[in-house]
This record gives sequence, C-alpha cells and structure tokens, in this order.
Amino acid sequence: MTKPIPSTGERLPVIGVGTWQTFDVGADAAARGQLREVLKLLNGNVVDSSPMYGTSESVAGDLIAELGIRDRLFMATKVWTHGPDEGIKQMETSFKRLRVQRMDLMQVHNLADVATHTETLQEWKQQKRIRYIGITHYTSSAYGEVERWLKTKQYDFLQINYSLGERESENRLLPLAQQLKVAVIANRPFAEGALFRRVKGRQLPTWAAELGISSWAQYFLKWIVSHPAVTCAIPGTGNPKHMQDNLGAGVGKLLSAEQRKQMAEYFNAQG
Ligand SMILES: NC(=O)c1ccc[n+]([C@@H]2O[C@H](COP(=O)([O-])OP(=O)(O)OC[C@H]3O[C@@H](n4cnc5c(N)ncnc54)[C@H](OP(=O)(O)O)[C@@H]3O)[C@@H](O)[C@H]2O)c1
Repeated sequence: MTKPIPSTGERLPVIGVGTWQTFDVGADAAARGQLREVLKLLNGNVVDSSPMYGTSESVAGDLIAELGIRDRLFMATKVWTHGPDEGIKQMETSFKRLRVQRMDLMQVHNLADVATHTETLQEWKQQKRIRYIGITHYTSSAYGEVERWLKTKQYDFLQINYSLGERESENRLLPLAQQLKVAVIANRPFAEGALFRRVKGRQLPTWAAELGISSWAQYFLKWIVSHPAVTCAIPGTGNPKHMQDNLGAGVGKLLSAEQRKQMAEYFNAQG
C-alpha cells in the first residue's frame, strides 16, 4: 500500500524504517550484515535518520552505496543544532555520510532552532538540494509548539509519535496536518518497543486474520497507517525478519474507523 504526499501527490509506501539505535553499529561487520539485509527488502520506502543517531547516517550511507539502491529509497534526515552556520555544516555532513546528491526530506529535529533552519531549508529546497522539508517531535509536551509552527504553512511533512500506546497527536495535530495538507510520518510506532512488552504472551484476536494481520507488529502498524492523516510509519529495526514482518502491515487494505476502534479496545483490554 502507498499513500500520497499531499503537497505533490507523489506516493510513498506506508511502511518505512527508522535508524535510531538500530543503525548505530559503527564498524561492527556482523551487525552491518544484518542491516544490509534489512535495506535489501525496501523499495521506495522512507529511511529516516538524524545526525543525533551516532554512526547511523554513515552506516546507512555505506550500505546503501554498497548495494547501489539509493534510487530505490526515500532518504530522510534531520538538522539538530543551533545557528545558521552550524546547521549548514551539519547538513553538508549528513549529505556526505548518507552519500546523497539530493535529500528527499530534511526535517528540523525536535524543533531545534526551527526559525533559523527553516530559512535555510526553504533556500535549499528552491535550489533543489532538498525535495521536501519538515519538522519532527516525539513528545506531547511539545505539541503546542509543533502546532504553532505547522500553522505557518511552510512544511511538507510532520514527523510525530503516534501509536496505540501514544495517541495524543490524534486530538489536534493529525487533524491539523490533514487540513493543511501536510504529510505525516509516525515515529515510535511501537512506543520504542513498549507495546510488545504490553502484549507479551497474549494472543492476537481471532478476527485479526480477516484484517490481513498475522503478528502484533502488523496489528500496531496497520492501525497507525490506516489513520487518514498518516502517510507512513517508520518502525526502527536492525533485524531483517522484523523488517519483513513490518512490511507485511503495508499489504492488503487499510482499515475502517470502526475496525480501528475495535482494535484499540482489544489492545486496551490487554495488560
Ligand atoms: N524526534 C524525532 O524525530 C524522533 C524521535 C523518536 C524516533 N524517531 C524515529 O522513529 C523511528 C522509530 O522509533 P523508535 O526506533 O524509537 O521506536 P519503535 O519503532 O517504536 O520501536 C523500535 C523497537 O521495536 C523493535 N521491533 C521492530 N520491529 C519489530 C517486530 N516486527 N517485532 C518485534 N520487535 C520489533 C526493535 O527491535 P529490533 O531491532 O530487534 O527489531 C526496537 O527495539 C526511530 O528509529 C527514528 O528514526 C524520531
């Protein structure tokens, strides 16, 4: 399944991959071998990184170059520093580490010095060094500020935490993004793994199979990407079996509001 980026209509697969922690493996050859297999499974999907994620950008960049699959990926990273010159320096480094000529999406990480970086991002977008620009956050305490920046109508993308365990963004931010025609990337789709701990030892409901769901990961992800405002989710994984599992949530049909409600009720009754 794919969904359109509202500002252009370009379609994105509903499942991507996050690189926080999972891709921060430095020179570890065994770990890089696993990550290579993760990347081989992708075709058009978002790969999300940040200069905040240790060696993740370099590791992803090396492996993508080795595999020769740059053109098959939607590369997203972030700027996470203060001041115009520091921002430019950091983004130039990200281009080198990820080994891209043009970044598909550049985001202001956690709104760090957002006013300054937004100006640079607008310029770079005009120069076609960046295709899309966005802002990110991961906690509801920042939603007021996120909302204020979204309303300035300068962004193609919002990346925000959204899952069955963290639902606050659906109150105001997701409807606002939809209204402003801003694409939404859901981060922390498993609440950093907490959702799996919550359902440990629990069976999927018998009706999950009818929804094309065969694992808890697919249950969590399909619920997210079926929200009308959400464009895609970016589960973090360094495990090819998990990546395959996660991609399974992007196959078949999106769920109705009624089906999502039933799933949330079932999940809430666990643990
Ligand atoms: N402010 C921001 O901009 C911000 C903040 C937070 C996150 N993010 C982005 O969002 C991405 C996702 O968030 P996250 O990594 O914090 O948390 P997450 O995706 O909610 O959870 C990641 C955890 O889930 C496990 N996992 C993944 N697929 C699985 C599967 N099929 N079955 C069982 N376990 C599975 C992973 O372990 P394995 O490696 O073993 O699969 C990992 O421990 C990040 O990588 C990052 O790119 C951005």
